[in-house]
Amino acid sequence: MSELKESLGELSDLNFFTAEELVTDPYPYFDEMRSRCPVTREPHMGVLTITGHAEAVTVFKDPETFSACLSVAGPFPGLPFEPEGDDISEQIEAHRSEYPMHEHMVTMDPPEHTRARGLLSRLLTPRRIEENEQFMWRLADQFIDEFIDRGECEVMTDYAKPFSLLVIADLLGVPPEDHEEFRIVLGAPPKGARVGSLDNEALSDNPLQWLDDKFSAYIEDRRREPRGDVLTSLAQAKYKDGGTPEVIDVVRTATFLFAAGQETTTKLISAALRVVGERPDLQARLRADRGLIPTFNEETLRLESPVKSDFRVARRTTMLDDTPVPAGTILMICPGAVNRDPEQFPEPNTFDLDRTNVREHLAFGRGIHSCPGGPLARVEGRVTLEKFLDRMDDIRVSETHHGPADNRRYQFDPTFILRGLTNLHLEFTPKK
Ligand code: HEM
Repeated sequence: MSELKESLGELSDLNFFTAEELVTDPYPYFDEMRSRCPVTREPHMGVLTITGHAEAVTVFKDPETFSACLSVAGPFPGLPFEPEGDDISEQIEAHRSEYPMHEHMVTMDPPEHTRARGLLSRLLTPRRIEENEQFMWRLADQFIDEFIDRGECEVMTDYAKPFSLLVIADLLGVPPEDHEEFRIVLGAPPKGARVGSLDNEALSDNPLQWLDDKFSAYIEDRRREPRGDVLTSLAQAKYKDGGTPEVIDVVRTATFLFAAGQETTTKLISAALRVVGERPDLQARLRADRGLIPTFNEETLRLESPVKSDFRVARRTTMLDDTPVPAGTILMICPGAVNRDPEQFPEPNTFDLDRTNVREHLAFGRGIHSCPGGPLARVEGRVTLEKFLDRMDDIRVSETHHGPADNRRYQFDPTFILRGLTNLHLEFTPKK
């Protein structure tokens, strides 16, 4: 085990939600939790931490027992009531409007979740996804054009953030003339953007609220005056039973995609490019056989799962393996831990391009809430690697910014929710 473990003794004594050491490298902590038991009580917030792959699948696939009502925030602030008895289903429903992000499908349970998810599938049609991919190929080139001659780039600001943001904007049919405004408000401004030209409230306030307002205006406009564009199809989308959704329900389905799909994909892209820069052997294999790119991205997702914690609440008193789970218990599934479970993935800490069961990873969750943006994120990852390899030779991690190969320095976002680099500086030789 790592130096961190030796120096700290019992890693599992650390507070997962606040310990800085665990931001840099959470994996020895996950290993220790799993070695105690794949379902272990976390001592600080009292959540039941799931680090075993099989146990995570059980929880994800049983929404009747495990509610998603606190899926995003978990113990912060926790349940807004004192659980009573062995079945708290009625209490959970009575407090729906009090859970963080309660208006978004990720915290819903059936039947509301089924309805919302059905609406989303009407938006993500095969034709839309195909057109969106064509946009990605152009967009990747456009961002690379901006830095290629420098022979170096900072992946997040020069590429990954604006790329993943504009992919979602295009998917939803945001008119190109509004793209700059979206980039400014959502934290990926173009160089030299006139940030001051926007309403300051939009910048300092809740960007999701700004998005809700923006999309409400789009949808109302297209319902009044259909134009045959993507926003019009959005405005006219119906539930599977033929019912017309309220404007706000369509809006939230659309705007949540920015919250769910931007940062996560940014983290996948930077993690994958970090491996490309760190491992010339793997880079050479990818160059020799582009067909390996999808597996490369899956192995990146397995080893550096962008979602670090995902929560459920036990509706009923139950057992998980041999662990009693009283009704009202908050469970924390850690994709980064379950994806390194040696029972599922032999030599789990090794990046193995020949791993045959890599797609069994749970980076996109499993069951009714499994990520509907997974196919899109996979295409974003593939397009990015194809384009970087097409246009750059000898991609390497910048020693100036990250230190020499035997002593790298990387910074990760200080959050227990997501896992990913804050910046990644690469150098390369532009291809002629
Ligand atoms: C590498 C990138 C991504 C990762 C790792 C990821 C991960 C996840 C995970 C783990 C969940 C399940 C949450 C739960 O069970 O509580 C989820 C749900 C979701 N994701 Fe993603 N996601 C990614 C990209 C995207 C993209 C690009 C979009 C859309 C454009 C998206 C939209 C959503 C939505 C709408 C949900 C909620 C689904 C539901 O509750 O039924 N995600 N994602």
